[in-house]
This record gives sequence, structure tokens and C-alpha cells, in this order.
Amino acid sequence: MIDHNEFQKRFGIFYRSQIMKEMVEVIHQVAPTDITVLLYGESGVGKELLARAIHGLSPRANKKMISVNCGAIPEGIIESELFGHQKGAFTGAVETRKGYFELADGGTLFLDEIGELPLPLQVKFLRVLETKEVLRLGAETVIKVDVRFITATNKNLADEVAKKRFREDLYYRLRTVMIEIPPLRKRKEEIPILVGKFITDFCERNNIPQVEITQDALNFLMDYNWPGNVRELKNSIESAIALNKKGILTVEDFKKILVLTSSGDGQKFLPIHLNKSVESAEREFIYRALFEIKKDLMEIKDFLINRQHKIEDIIPEVTLSEPASIREAEKEAIKSALIKTNFDKKKAAELLGISLRTLYRKIKEFNLESD
Ligand SMILES: Nc1ncnc2c1ncn2[C@@H]1O[C@H](COP(=O)(O)OP(=O)(O)OP(=O)(O)O)[C@@H](O)[C@H]1O
Ligand SMILES: [Mg+2]
Repeated sequence: MIDHNEFQKRFGIFYRSQIMKEMVEVIHQVAPTDITVLLYGESGVGKELLARAIHGLSPRANKKMISVNCGAIPEGIIESELFGHQKGAFTGAVETRKGYFELADGGTLFLDEIGELPLPLQVKFLRVLETKEVLRLGAETVIKVDVRFITATNKNLADEVAKKRFREDLYYRLRTVMIEIPPLRKRKEEIPILVGKFITDFCERNNIPQVEITQDALNFLMDYNWPGNVRELKNSIESAIALNKKGILTVEDFKKILVLTSSGDGQKFLPIHLNKSVESAEREFIYRALFEIKKDLMEIKDFLINRQHKIEDIIPEVTLSEPASIREAEKEAIKSALIKTNFDKKKAAELLGISLRTLYRKIKEFNLESD
């Protein structure tokens, strides 16, 4: 018998639904083995948390789990990041370096957004899965590695296979143990416990007295459909507490946040023409960024006028001055797209008209990670 209370506390994964209980049981079954697991679910459902739990319940728990986001590494260096390289393998390879496959030796390698792995590397990754051998770039002999793989995707890989963007053989290999994590809207009974947990954690972390929440507010959260899943719920609770002054969260507190963040609509954004030179595409990106900021300011202004709120009621510190630089404008546009999409990077990249990879690069550059 699994002690769900103990599991929740140990891994910080909270749930009440039957479907999650069954999933946690599957996790207990597969964790002790070396079987490759594929976690499938929308953004923000808790894939990374579950990967940590699988690792934590495995005999490798005292070794490290390395997380690699396949969508975040620039395409040109992803092979050498994963496989490593010998000195002199390419211009700039001034010394021999181990890749993640070797660095995770003895432990677990979590490959997030596996659907973003470029096709030629999918073949090579499949070979590593089958042989547990790695060939560094520029090397002549293979190196044995002892790694447990956990992969994750928010893309439907069967669709990707049909579109010839994901290799069928790798897909069949990965889907042997596929754990599907349902979106929050399909397991709304978790909402009360998650709300309680996020309130307590946030208040403790920030040294503020425990905040209460009204039954109406809780009902309101139960009715919302949470496109950004648990991450969106967590972010909303944290914003609501940060903006709240009364020590009790009401429906109004959440209306402000959920209205502001769900107003993003792809249709309203200017199209981008991709067959232009990089320079003109960048220029267009900046124009659009400025356009977005202007639109956001207008929306906030509208919102304030309609509801007769003072601006400090909503956003404690807003700078309404002109953006300091193009770089600053770019950062603001990215921030705003991330907030609008509740940190769903795929949607944010679509909104901005840039590739997911570029978005990851910018997030890192501007230090805009959500968690
Ligand atoms: N059941 C849960 N209990 C407590 N916190 C949770 C739960 N599920 C998710 N979270 C929290 O929600 C946030 C998102 O979770 P996580 O990063 O694991 O999602 P993900 O599925 O990997 O998302 P993405 O596809 O965007 O990478 C994290 O802050 C995580 O701690
Ligand atoms: Mg993740």
C-alpha cells in the first residue's frame, strides 16, 4: 500500500483525485526499475516534479538527476552538449568535454521537451537508449554510461510522427511507459488543497501572516478552467497575496489577475513575415514589442478607468516612462507575453512570433524564469 500523505510531503506534490492517486501508484511501480519513462501533459501540470519523484524513489536517489531542456539549447551546440566532444573536434573545441549523457552517469537524466530534439539527434539518442554507449563528437571509441532516462513532452508525439517531425522508432521506444498527467481542469478537486498549500508556502517564504481565502473566491477558482494548469494557479495565488492588503483573498482579487492575464488573444497580434532578412525580422520584432507594450498600457488604463481603481491597487510598481532602450523594450515584450500566457513558453513564443529556442535564449539572457 502506498502512503499518499507521506509521498505528498516528501515530494511536494499535492493531489486528491483518484486519477492522480493511480498515477502515483504507477510511478511507484516504475521508479525502482531502469525503464525509460515518458511524461506527457500540458505545460504546468507538474511533469518536472514527477520526474524528481521517480528519481527520488529509485535506487539512484543518492546520485544526481540532471535536467536538460531540449528546447532551450541552441541547435548548433545541442549535440556536443549531450554527447560531449574531443579536443579539436570542431573550431572552438579547445578541450575535451563530457556531455550530459556522461555527466549523468550513475544517476538520472531528465530530458524535457523531448519533442524539440532535432531529427538527426533523435537517431543518435535512440542508439544511446539501446546500447548505453556514447560517442563524443570527434572521438573514435565509445564510452559506456549507466544512466536512467526520464523524458517529458507537452506535444502529442504521435502527431509529431505523422508530421514527420519525430521519428517513429524513437516514439515507439519511448511510449512503452508513457504516463499522462491530466490537465488541472480535469481534476478540479485538487484545487482547494493546492490553494491552501500555495498560500501557506508563499506566506512562510515571505514572512507574512497567513492569508485567508473566502469560500466565494475558492468557488471562483474552481470554476476557472486553468489553461496554464498548476503553474497558473500557483502564480495567481502568489500575485493575489502580493497585491492584497486585507489579509483575506476575495473573488475581486482573482478577477483582477485572471482578467488581466487572460486577455491575450493571438488574433490581435501583428503577423510576422519570416522570409525576410534577420535584421528586418528583428526590427519587426521590436516594433511589435513596442506595439504590445502600448496595447498593454492601454488595457491597464481602460481597466483602471472602468473599475475606478487606483493604479497602486493593481500593480504596486509600474513605470510608465518610455522604455530605456530597444533591449529593454524587448525584455518588456517577452515579460508581457510570458505573463499573458502564464509562462507557457510555447504560446508565448507564438505570440511574439519568435521560435521557442530564441525565447528560451532570451529568457535566460534577461533572467525571466518563472519558478
Ligand atoms: N501537484 C502539485 N502539487 C504542488 N505543486 C505542483 C503540483 N503540480 C505542479 N506544481 C507546481 O507547479 C509548477 C509547474 O510544475 P512543473 O514545472 O513540474 O510543470 P511542467 O509540467 O514541467 O511544466 P512545463 O511543461 O511548462 O515545463 C511548479 O512550481 C510546481 O512546483
Ligand atoms: Mg517542465
